[in-house]
Amino acid sequence: MCGIVAYIGHREAYPIIIKGLKRLEYRGYDSAGVALLNGDLRVFKQKGKVADLEKAAAGEYTQGSTGMGHTRWATHGVPNDVNAHPHLSQSGDLAVIHNGIIENYATIKEGLMRRGHTFSSDTDTEVLIHLIEDIMVNAGLNLHEAVRVALKQVVGAYAIVILSKNHPEHLIAARKGSPLVVGIGKERGEFFMASDATPIVEYTRQVIYMNDGEIAVVENDELTITTINNEIQTPYIHELEMNLEQLEKGGYPHFMLKEIYEQPKSILDSFRGRIDPMSAEIIMRSIRDYEEKLKNINRLILIGCGTSWHAGLVAEYLFEEFARIPVEVEYASEFRYRNPVIYGDDLILAISQSGETADTLAAMELAKNKGATVFGVCNVVGSSIPRLSHAGAYTHAGPEIGVASTKAFTAQVTVLALIAMAMGKLRGALTGEQLRALMYELESIPTKVEKALKLNDEIVKLSELYKDSHNFLYLGRGYNFPVALEGALKLKEISYIHAEGYPAAEMKHGPIALIDENMPVVVIATNSAHYEKVVSNIQEVKARKGKIIAIVTEGNTGLNNLADHIIEVPETEESFSPLINTIPLQLLSYHIAVMRGCNVDQPRNLAKSVTVE
Ligand code: G6P
Repeated sequence: MCGIVAYIGHREAYPIIIKGLKRLEYRGYDSAGVALLNGDLRVFKQKGKVADLEKAAAGEYTQGSTGMGHTRWATHGVPNDVNAHPHLSQSGDLAVIHNGIIENYATIKEGLMRRGHTFSSDTDTEVLIHLIEDIMVNAGLNLHEAVRVALKQVVGAYAIVILSKNHPEHLIAARKGSPLVVGIGKERGEFFMASDATPIVEYTRQVIYMNDGEIAVVENDELTITTINNEIQTPYIHELEMNLEQLEKGGYPHFMLKEIYEQPKSILDSFRGRIDPMSAEIIMRSIRDYEEKLKNINRLILIGCGTSWHAGLVAEYLFEEFARIPVEVEYASEFRYRNPVIYGDDLILAISQSGETADTLAAMELAKNKGATVFGVCNVVGSSIPRLSHAGAYTHAGPEIGVASTKAFTAQVTVLALIAMAMGKLRGALTGEQLRALMYELESIPTKVEKALKLNDEIVKLSELYKDSHNFLYLGRGYNFPVALEGALKLKEISYIHAEGYPAAEMKHGPIALIDENMPVVVIATNSAHYEKVVSNIQEVKARKGKIIAIVTEGNTGLNNLADHIIEVPETEESFSPLINTIPLQLLSYHIAVMRGCNVDQPRNLAKSVTVE
């Protein structure tokens, strides 16, 4: 999704902005641009990557200590140079960058055109900056006031930053529904604004996460935050815990591979300090604070999008097994528009890596308005989802930069397992003995994941064999059905090979028609209550000459004569097996994508954090 970086201070803005835009590249984008104030207001913008923008601006005058930059993920208007941000007002004196969608832009545009405004792009954003200038001119308001009045007329979501040629000491930003962080520089008068903290962490650890309906104004070295109704706010200054190394590749060729390899640590970090096998206690503040509520809830609804929805599907099995509670798992985008039946004794659990997914946020708001208790399981500290939740837990996986989610998924599953275990205890569904056994097993998972990562060389060879396939099928049952979905999603996302995940037994109701000697079928056949049934499904694939890649538990030789390839993974409890079985599937999609020459960390058309619906 669109990325925003802005700077005002005493240093050269351009290098800070370019570096910041590169840090935001992971969000996904198709064009980039900058605006700089240096007596004049200069704009450079370009379809393509930030590197293309740099080439376009090479040799140009890029000096100035106030500026802003943008990476655009197209919503209104195709990705091209003209539609790239920043956009200018009618006079060319004001510039804006924007993340979000102005829904009523067409009506506003019509009115402006009647008043003589002309537009060069197809974007909703250009309409907004024309509107602001129109209000300044016709109502005689200053920039801050005009921004306030304009935003009151706007329907939709936005994070915006505005520069004015005539007020070089000004920088104005506003947020509603799209994230915006303000960094407080170490020197007086120095401020950063960005879509997330990644471009800021290099310069300062002090940040303010703006709230919806707030406007930040930097003027004469001072920052003021007001609401859209002009009430002055006292912002809370957060201390960033992120460090720069987490944002670098650390010797790996891609962030995705680095993040796959970080999983022994990220899984450990997600349960570290939260389990005590001696006392069989799960130590989580949200559980403690909501103990009574959790004992009495009648239904759990898990919501999320993409990989987070898959984590929710794994959690459905965990909660049913550990806590014996009815569970529904919903795509946030469907749930929010379905007039769902929600009761006051429902618990809604929103799952999100970024904490900014627009559909998940809207689904949470809907549930809250209907009186349900809303928990969040989220990776990005300070993001919107934890702030909207009544309570919840961070996954502590550290920044995830690769667009294809890997370590965030396993951390989500781990934290959801902890919550399910805690609820199992509260509701009397798990004994202390059972809990203790689960905790000891969980403690062994990081080492087992480490071992699963040693399969890398084997998976490289396998990838060589199947990199040119046009389709893949992934099969699993029970806990490993969502793992099959996630395996297929990873392959689709980064290698552009069509892949489908299916519950193994459902295969014969459709996908079996696709199977021939050209169809690789990845089957998760690790030890489980359904192992024998999965073997029967493998037989069905074999009978139709499909190529079988079987993921089995270490030491299992039962499939040696049936499968074309065997991948052995360490044994664990069935309920924790998704944490291990996901690893070879992540590696398979990674290597195939690399061999096909795909841009693994920034796959086409995808965004890391989807802040529009
Ligand atoms: C995008 C990302 C996916 C992610 C999904 C949900 O589509 O590319 O990797 O799973 O959004 O994002 P969230 O941040 O809410 O987990």
